[in-house]
Amino acid sequence: MDNQVWSDVDSYINDHLLGKDDVLEKVLFNTTQAGLPNIQVSAAQGKLLYQLALMVKAKNILEIGTLGGYSAISMARALPKCGKLVTLEADLRHVEVAKNNVRLAGLENIIDIKIGKALDTLPLLVRSQPQKFDVIFIDADKENIPHYYDWSIKLSHSGSIIIVDNVVRQGQILQAESNDLRIRGVRHFYEIVGQDKRVTATTMQTVGSKGYDGFCLIHVL
Ligand code: SAH
Ligand code: DHB
Ligand code: MG
Repeated sequence: MDNQVWSDVDSYINDHLLGKDDVLEKVLFNTTQAGLPNIQVSAAQGKLLYQLALMVKAKNILEIGTLGGYSAISMARALPKCGKLVTLEADLRHVEVAKNNVRLAGLENIIDIKIGKALDTLPLLVRSQPQKFDVIFIDADKENIPHYYDWSIKLSHSGSIIIVDNVVRQGQILQAESNDLRIRGVRHFYEIVGQDKRVTATTMQTVGSKGYDGFCLIHVL
């Protein structure tokens, strides 16, 4: 069992269940072409985010960490015309690429990219956003995941779902003594969420074209 099998199975899944998606392919092409890192969710993971948003009939979605807009576009497609997706991004170059991709996806009226470090823009959002978010996708700097989780709880309602990406990291999260702030951030997050009576949470380990990782799915009670 190796990454080649995982990638091949991802291709098989994509061929059978996802089909050809010209817009998302162009989004990926533009993102790579612009030199952004290849760290967006896989096609199958993007489809899962889309389906989760459909399942809760999401009208408002929050994303922390936009990159080129691949996951934002995937999720925004589940929204009704009156829906909104707010996505937070600190890197101006990423914002520029994402804006272009959002336009080509025809979602510029639905996706709102807020520029700045998420820990600066989240407090503004609490004040400016009258509605709570039905779906929240946490996928930015891993050291701040515990903070992003706290803000997400503030910005959610009973029935909201919160998805946290990259919470397995090839099993590195087992390294209790790690000095890697990202690993410490993820481990601290597990300590908090595991004790939090306001939510129910589980993690699914994943393999595929993006290697071995996992995501945490949290349901706000
Ligand atoms: N969700 C995207 C991938 C996001 S990659 C997708 O699947 O398509 C992580 C992104 O978070 C990067 O673009 C990075 O610039 C951004 N980021 C990192 N630290 C941040 C911070 N403190 N505030 C906002 N964005 C941040
Ligand atoms: C990295 C970030 C991600 O959000 C991801 O899905 C994979 C890798 C990273 O920073 O290396
Ligand atoms: Mg990620």
